[in-house]
Amino acid sequence: MAGKGALARRIPTSLALAIGVFIGLIVSRFFPWTSSTATHTWRSNHIAAKPHQHSRHPIQLPTPDQRLRVLELLTSLSQRYTRECMRNTQPFYAQQILERYSSLAGHRWRSSAQNSWWSTFFGDDERAQAVLSTPSEHKYFFAINLYNSFDVIPDMFAALFRVAAILGYHNVYVSIYENGSTDQTKALLRIFDALTRSVGMRITIRTSTRTRGAFNHRIEYLAEVRNAAFVPLHELRDSENEYFDTIVFMNDVLPCVDDILELIWQSRRNNAGITCAADYMYHDEIGSPVFYDNWVARDINGTALENAPFERVFHHSESSQRWQRHLPVQVQSCWNGIAVLDPEPFYTPPHLRFRMAKIMEGECSASECSLICNDYWEAGYGRIMMVPRVKLAYDGRVYDIIHPPRRNLTAIRGYVRLGGLPDDPRTDPQDRSWFGPHDRLFIEEESVPLDFKPGPKEVWCWGWDGAGDLDGPDVDPIWEPMSNRSIVSNAVRIRHDRSLGL
Ligand SMILES: *[C@@H]1O[C@H](CO)[C@@H](O)[C@H](O)[C@H]1NC(C)=O
Ligand SMILES: *[C@@H]1O[C@H](CO)[C@@H](O)[C@H](O)[C@H]1NC(C)=O
Ligand SMILES: *[C@@H]1O[C@H](CO)[C@@H](O)[C@H](O)[C@H]1NC(C)=O
Ligand SMILES: *[C@@H]1O[C@H](CO)[C@@H](O)[C@H](O)[C@H]1NC(C)=O
Repeated sequence: MAGKGALARRIPTSLALAIGVFIGLIVSRFFPWTSSTATHTWRSNHIAAKPHQHSRHPIQLPTPDQRLRVLELLTSLSQRYTRECMRNTQPFYAQQILERYSSLAGHRWRSSAQNSWWSTFFGDDERAQAVLSTPSEHKYFFAINLYNSFDVIPDMFAALFRVAAILGYHNVYVSIYENGSTDQTKALLRIFDALTRSVGMRITIRTSTRTRGAFNHRIEYLAEVRNAAFVPLHELRDSENEYFDTIVFMNDVLPCVDDILELIWQSRRNNAGITCAADYMYHDEIGSPVFYDNWVARDINGTALENAPFERVFHHSESSQRWQRHLPVQVQSCWNGIAVLDPEPFYTPPHLRFRMAKIMEGECSASECSLICNDYWEAGYGRIMMVPRVKLAYDGRVYDIIHPPRRNLTAIRGYVRLGGLPDDPRTDPQDRSWFGPHDRLFIEEESVPLDFKPGPKEVWCWGWDGAGDLDGPDVDPIWEPMSNRSIVSNAVRIRHDRSLGL
């Protein structure tokens, strides 16, 4: 072991980790784990284990398959599910996103570095080097909650590294709060912790010691977990006087690079308080993915969205029409896997926090995410919107359905546009299906800022007190009256200009 330590001092961290994993892999071949070692945690030997990282749950040892995947990952740093999302994009789309997102770049790109800027998106060269001359001052705080997320972490970090390469590594802070996973989440996070630091990104990974049992109310616990991911945000303000301009809050989803960039772009373009994606889950009876997070999502009339095929998700007819055309939609509330937040209401009075309902004051027991939306409205940050173009999955199965590869119709069946014109990428019939190829071309209306309206007087609330064992809302739904402050135009005024300077 001493020899291995000496070796580790002379070689780069990621290589050292790779060697460590490889040795572990070989050792496991010759010395199969016995039950007596089964409670040991799996640690790389030069990252000090913090006492608070001990979990009450015994951590299972990695399976040979998991070890192999970690090794593959370290040697290639490639993702598993989202690998194809930016490969072979149609040339016109590639052009569009380079133009659209260049205003987000935290680096000035030398003209000879154009290829690197390109490859940051398309992954041809993972070591794309940026040339810093006038670094952007816009600072991003990524808050991520994970629980048993072994399967999605490599994809998530692959997207994160690329997004940060575009926004500027120096502009990105990543805060991960992991609430006591029992799979290999912690081990994977430690590897990515090292890799993240090696590119100069700042990262904090914390693990909870409190379990849900310590809380009376399940929403109180979930709110606590989300607040915990924000702790570095407040610490940096207190200790360094450092303020962030945009927060990106992520659940355990599988995003593409352009998904995250589009949410950030729309959030800044619209000076939005909260900007969400649309998330999908497989519906066995319908036999297709359907819109998922309807416990939180409410249209601008306050009506719940439906777990339904795309044409029946919104009841509000104007919203429904925009949704069906993949255009951004104003909503009363949403979360949906990734939410981009304006940090201002966290920094300034009323100093928002995620919270459970004030049940004693008669507030309906909604999700902590619905309540934060209500609180944004009340604080005058009611510019809340959803971006249907950005479709998110939580697993590989749904991911594959909602990101079908684009087929070359000319090659397949000699498809020629009506009237005999050659193939026009704007009229490709594949883009008419809801789960069409990821590289659907942008239309002009997707760049037009929304005209935000005051909030609804009442919002449909389906409470969850968690008194019984019901794994879902357990209180009769009601139309809950909203505060007077959220139903006036002052609630959607721009208070904090985070715009792109287009
Ligand atoms: C962590 O949070 C998830 C929900 O996000 C929950 O299902 C799980 O039980 C929590 N873990 C612990 C150890 O309480
Ligand atoms: C709009 O909201 C009201 C309650 O404020 C409700 O009665 C009505 O059904 C909603 N309309 C639609 C189309 O959802
Ligand atoms: C599609 O196939 C045709 C015929 O094989 C070819 O000429 C064309 O370049 C292809 N288009 C793309 C985008 O690959
Ligand atoms: C809200 O407005 C209604 C009618 O405009 C009024 O009756 C009510 O007292 C107001 N509530 C608060 C808390 O100001």
